[in-house]
Amino acid sequence: MTIQWFPGHMAKARRQVTEKIKLIDIVFELVDARIPMSSRNPMIDEIISTKPRIVLLNKADKADDFITKQWISYFKEQNIPAIAIDAQTGTGLKQITALSKVLLKEKFDKMAAKGIKPRAIRALIIGIPNVGKSTLINRLAKRNITKTGDRPGVTTAQQWVKVGTELELLDTPGILWPKFEDELVGYKLATTGAIKDAILNLQDITVFALRFLKDHYPNRLQERYNLEELPEEIVSLFDEIGKKRGCMMQGGYIDYDKTSELILREIRADKLGRLSFETPSQFDHED
Ligand code: G4P
Repeated sequence: MTIQWFPGHMAKARRQVTEKIKLIDIVFELVDARIPMSSRNPMIDEIISTKPRIVLLNKADKADDFITKQWISYFKEQNIPAIAIDAQTGTGLKQITALSKVLLKEKFDKMAAKGIKPRAIRALIIGIPNVGKSTLINRLAKRNITKTGDRPGVTTAQQWVKVGTELELLDTPGILWPKFEDELVGYKLATTGAIKDAILNLQDITVFALRFLKDHYPNRLQERYNLEELPEEIVSLFDEIGKKRGCMMQGGYIDYDKTSELILREIRADKLGRLSFETPSQFDHED
């Protein structure tokens, strides 16, 4: 799904999320573990405000484990609990309810002290398109999707999905926009497949990806494309991969679009192994 984010859409998305946040106890902010900063909404802190939150580093199965651990520490240092998960297979999901209970203990203890009947923790999943929100909701809900119906006093009808007995989720996630005005963010989103290739130039995306791999995962590049050594120039790297894989045009020229498609397809299919495209150290100076 490609959403065109215009100012009107962004304002509407924000309004909808703000309304939903009023109904819940805790926000699950879903990001892509390979690009946790670039796959966030730029106004997320302001939108979530003081509501408790857990950052869920999804698609951790595709990310570099070592870097994911660094990201978990990075968020922890900012007092934001973070968990690495894989919504597709369910890895890490058990921790979500357990951690939510810890974070909300005080609130629920206070409610109990006031004589309020115990109830399930209410949560909302928020994230930019394609981070895995629907996959996560379906996975958490398992087969026993139970719609508990509308809540009185709520203007827009919201459906709740039970996750075990202790947690319930709003069945539609909060969808927010990425920081797309930043070119680098765009390239990272495109490389990981979060945005359609047509939005950015295919060869530019591949230049970004190759440059990143050359700097951070040179051995993986060499191994995958059987390269004795990595050429200095990115164009030469393109040429070598194109030649090795037979991405040629008439006259013996390299077909750069075909080469780009091949490289990006292989990165997204984890053919170069598990990769992370940003590290906390790249963001330290911004804090
Ligand atoms: P959204 O609601 O946030 O927009 O995302 P959605 O659940 O539709 O997930 C987007 C794609 O990401 C889906 O692939 C989904 O299977 C995949 N995905 C979600 N969570 C995980 C995860 O933890 N690990 C992995 N490896 N993949 C995950 P898709 O439908 O095949 O779309 P696409 O691959 O063609 O983009």
